[in-house]
Amino acid sequence: MYDFYFADRESICARPEDFLIFCKRLLPRWANGIPDSECIALWRILKSLPKQAPTLVETGSGASSLALFLHAALNGGKVFSWDTNASKGAYLRSVISDAMCRVLEVDIHKIWTFIPFNSTDPHVGISALKEMGLTADFGFFDSWHVLDHLLQEIDHFEKVASPKFVIALDDAYYTMKYQNFAYVNMIRQKLGLRRVDEPQDNRCKPFYEEVDSHLRGRYPVVEKIQDEYKQLYAKDLSLAYYESNREFTNLVGMEDGSKLDHRFDAWRVS
Ligand SMILES: C[S@@+](CC[C@H](N)C(=O)[O-])C[C@H]1O[C@@H](n2cnc3c(N)ncnc32)[C@H](O)[C@@H]1O
Repeated sequence: MYDFYFADRESICARPEDFLIFCKRLLPRWANGIPDSECIALWRILKSLPKQAPTLVETGSGASSLALFLHAALNGGKVFSWDTNASKGAYLRSVISDAMCRVLEVDIHKIWTFIPFNSTDPHVGISALKEMGLTADFGFFDSWHVLDHLLQEIDHFEKVASPKFVIALDDAYYTMKYQNFAYVNMIRQKLGLRRVDEPQDNRCKPFYEEVDSHLRGRYPVVEKIQDEYKQLYAKDLSLAYYESNREFTNLVGMEDGSKLDHRFDAWRVS
């Protein structure tokens, strides 16, 4: 169903970004949660990782999984994705198998592990990589967008991180501490319920500031990556394509068009 032909392996190796966006555009909206510009920025950061065959971690699967998978398929390495929505894993597996694995002649099961559970579970969350004898080189965090959960995910990640690692965030400008009222209000709107106000104590600094301070408090070398999302997003076709839906997501606070510069942020740490 998803085995649309792009080009042979050699041409894919020559134009991997075009192939990545070609595959991303096969996805429906519910599994395509980041714009093309962010997917490209993610891809370019992966290319800059110092380790050959790195271990890549993500929380919240979707288009980002395609970027991580393609990097591992072309360069070696492994991908671990945590998402509580098991159907998303099954769906993405079918897209990756058809669209990527066939032409690249790789076995999805040797590269990608999807864990359909809470990313911070003490037994099968991110820190379980330790029991598998692995260290993580890259983490992309895009699951439940509240600071408390995000910092827990980063804490788990740090327990298994390599001495040099990179972390990246989606929706890094969000400022919700313990409850995602934007998401809750989106659901309430669909249920025909009135909007609930966010209590003051749910407010925190933007995630990119909180995470920056967290990392600088723990590691001697923390470099903010000059990611390319910030140059690319103004001309991003995928953002224009979903414009009508974005009016609603802006209204309930799931997106803030004025803060898009910090939708994506990343750090190199050692
Ligand atoms: C915004 S979507 C991810 C988008 C994806 N990165 C992409 O590129 O399309 C967020 C995902 O996080 C998952 N999620 C929410 N809370 C979670 C948790 N505690 N552990 C793991 N996954 C979670 C949801 O099921 C949802 O699929």
